[in-house]
Formats: sequence, structure tokens, C-alpha cells
Amino acid sequence: MSTTPDQAPKPTPNIRPATGKLGILTPGMGAVTTTFIAGVEAIKRGISKPIGSVTQLSTIRLGKRTDNNTPLIKDFVPLAGLEDLEFGGWDIFEENCYEAAVHAGVLERHLLEQLKEPLEKIKPMSAVFDSEYVKRITGPNMKPKGSKMDHAEMLMDDIRNFKETRGCDRLSMIWCGSTEVFHRAAAVHQSLEAFEAGLANNDPEISPSQIYAYAAIRSGVPYANGAPHLTVDAPCLLEMARDRQVPICGKDFKTGQTFMKTLIAPGLKSRMLGVSGWFSTNILGNRDGEVLDDPGSFKSKEESKLSALEQILQPELYPDLYKDIYHKVRINYYPPRGDSKEGWDNIDIFGWLGYPMQIKIDFLCRDSILAAPLVLDLVLFMDLAQRAGMRGVQEWLSFYFKAPMTAPGLYPEHDIFIQLMKMKNTLRWMKGEQLITHLGLEYYD
Ligand SMILES: NC(=O)c1ccc[n+]([C@@H]2O[C@H](COP(=O)([O-])OP(=O)(O)OC[C@H]3O[C@@H](n4cnc5c(N)ncnc54)[C@H](O)[C@@H]3O)[C@@H](O)[C@H]2O)c1
Repeated sequence: MSTTPDQAPKPTPNIRPATGKLGILTPGMGAVTTTFIAGVEAIKRGISKPIGSVTQLSTIRLGKRTDNNTPLIKDFVPLAGLEDLEFGGWDIFEENCYEAAVHAGVLERHLLEQLKEPLEKIKPMSAVFDSEYVKRITGPNMKPKGSKMDHAEMLMDDIRNFKETRGCDRLSMIWCGSTEVFHRAAAVHQSLEAFEAGLANNDPEISPSQIYAYAAIRSGVPYANGAPHLTVDAPCLLEMARDRQVPICGKDFKTGQTFMKTLIAPGLKSRMLGVSGWFSTNILGNRDGEVLDDPGSFKSKEESKLSALEQILQPELYPDLYKDIYHKVRINYYPPRGDSKEGWDNIDIFGWLGYPMQIKIDFLCRDSILAAPLVLDLVLFMDLAQRAGMRGVQEWLSFYFKAPMTAPGLYPEHDIFIQLMKMKNTLRWMKGEQLITHLGLEYYD
């Protein structure tokens, strides 16, 4: 049987067991982080179910359809259990996790009151922050002045202390901080050597999120990026992650509107229907919305939101269908809505003989409710990847991101169903199970 490069066999990895505690570290302890932590605490107490979490609820088919073998993913691969998670993080605000959750206004007070005891214990460590990278907000809980390298060392101390005092066996870090201003990789990002010199010289092109990521990778901690800014998607940190055998992934959680896009667009393309325009607009009123009201942060978000559609539709392959598409994305800060966002899409499509049609979507979603289970899945899968000896970019986790990271030169796969298949096949591969191609001819022999 011939194999394509995608199918080239790689030996089944040896996965170290998930013994002991897993510490979850989040730079940024705002709406997403507190909704995630409160949710895990609620699930542990039997108050709720882990709705939206693939690691907790999804099954995986093994073998033929006739085998009827579909264990839960969490029973198939060795993942850390929810009872073994320890939480910590950093923020520029001093509020503990309970107060921050009340402030975020995502979860109802009567639920938070039941979780007050564990949430109050989680207090943010002082942050590495730069107002050139996140505008519109400022807070009192910052590290003392020093070079960027000093700050990286302070973060590494925080990581070490957290691990020791909480008795963690392993750690997993995920950026849930604000979206930083758009920057492309600069000269200082081209090699690890240049980056480390830049940390020492306070190079303005190095963002706070990159200092956290550097500290994580140097501490051997996997790093996931839930925001659209660059962070680990730069040669220096890619090189470092590979050399130090640390998994990394990103960027930008695929939740509301882009989640919808990656459901609808592959469907239209699968039927060879054309798209002449896609206008997307959002109103949201949480702190994330306030930060995104700044043009620099919005630019980071816009880039990640725009790229998905272009890469799904492949206008270079289908010029008759997608060459002239007009794609516009707007985000408007509108305080009355808080975290309950509204995302409208108007899609102008055309079919047989070029006849036009329209699709309208009005998604009244809750940003942090959609993002929290993604955070849970990502920290558990990143820990699994590390125990399986996987390093560098974890493309199999593209499923979770608006702008998935890939190996240099490789275009990202945005179609959510291909991403899901890739993720499940990676899990099958990790356990030495047969990959599922969906060919299915054997049923008709
Ligand atoms: N909720 C979603 O559906 C969704 C989807 C995709 C991406 N995101 C991204 O996730 C991130 C978190 O979203 P959120 O709604 O929780 O935002 P939020 O504003 O409620 O929380 C972010 C927190 O990060 C803190 N912060 C900013 N810079 C920091 C730094 N350098 N160090 C430590 N803390 C810092 C802020 O003080 C704030 O408390 C944002 O970047 C957002 O764009 C969210």
C-alpha cells in the first residue's frame, strides 16, 4: 500500500502515566480563566457537567464500525483527572479568582457563592505587563522594574515556587490574557540567540506574552496561546520549544463567530457554491471588548479572523467561486452586553447559473462559556503531548484555534471536521490503534 507523506508511519510513542497533580498556569485571570476554573470546581462538586469539552464528553471510535468500540477519549488516553488540577496565574489586577469572576459577570452569583471557598484561594501573581502592548487597561499588580530578562527570571521563579508549594508533578501554561497589539516577527525573533540578547537589552519588539512563553519553555512547561497575537509563532521560540522538547500551540480560541464560519464555509465549498461577500460584525461589552476597541489589538484579532475564510475557500483553486469575495469583520465595544456577545453574519452566496442567495446568522453567544471548555481540553491535551514526547507545534490541536500554528511553509487546515479527524487520528496513533480513513470499502467485500 502506498502512503502519502501525511500517512508516513511514525513509531507509537511511549506515554508516561498522568500520575500526581497537574498545575495549570494562566497569564491573565479575567473572564475566560475564571469561568474555566469555576467550571472545573463546579463539575468536581457534581453541580454541572463538562458541556463543550471534548476531552470529558467525546468518544472515539476504534476499529471497524461493526466493532462497536467507542470509549470516551478520557478513558482511552491517559489524561490528568479534574481532581488532580491545581490552578495559578498572573494578572495586573489583585482580585482573587472569586472577585475576578464576580467582576467578569459571566457566571451567576448563586453559583459563584457555592464555589467561593476554592476560588478565593487563587490569587494572581504579579504580572509582566507593558502598556505599549495592551492599551486601555492598567492595574496595580506588576513585577518590579527590571530588564525583560529579569522579568523572565522572575516568572521562572514563580513557576518553580508554584510547582513546589502546590506539589505538582507537571505544569501546563495557557495564555488567557488580553490581546496584545499586532506585531510581525522582527529581527529579534529570528533566532533564540537574538531573542535572548533582546531580552537582556529590552528590545521593544519583545512582548510580555513572549516573556511568559520564554519562561514556560525554559522551565519545560507546554505553552498554548489563546489570543491572536504572535507569541510562540516566531522562529526563536519555535526553535527553543523543539530543542527543549516542549509542546506549543496557538493561536486564538475558535469560539463564536469564527467557529460558525468554519462550520458553514466548508459546507458551502463542499457543494461548490460560490460566495461573493461575507460581512461579520460583533458587539460585546466585556474587558476583552474594551481592549479590542484599541486599533492595535483589533488588528491582531482581525488578521486571525480574516485568514480562516480565505484558507478554507481556497480562491486560488476555485477562482469562479471565491476570487472576488468581499470579506469584512467588525468588532464593536458595547458595554451593556457584557460577556454576552452578539455576532451577525450576512453571507452572499450564489448557486447554479450564478443565481444569488443570502444566509443570515445571528449568534447570541457567551464568549467565556464557549472558551472555558477549550481551555480545559488544551491544557489536558498539551500535558498528554508532553508525556508522549511530542515537541514543538502541535498541529493536531488546530481544532481549537482560529489561526492554527503549523510547521513553517505549511498552510493551516481550518475545516473543523478535518481538524477533528486529525485530532482523533493523532490520539489513535498515540495508542497504536489503526487510523480511520473513512474509506469503508471492507464493509462491501
Ligand atoms: N472568550 C472567547 O471566546 C475568546 C475567543 C478567542 C480569544 N479570546 C482571547 O482570550 C483572552 C482572554 O479573554 P477574556 O475575555 O478572559 O479577557 P479579560 O479581559 O476578561 O481577561 C484578560 C485578563 O488578562 C489580564 N492581562 C492583560 N495583560 C496581562 C499580562 N501581561 N499579564 C497578566 N495578565 C494580563 C487583564 O488584566 C485581564 O484581567 C483575550 O486575549 C481574548 O481575545 C477569547
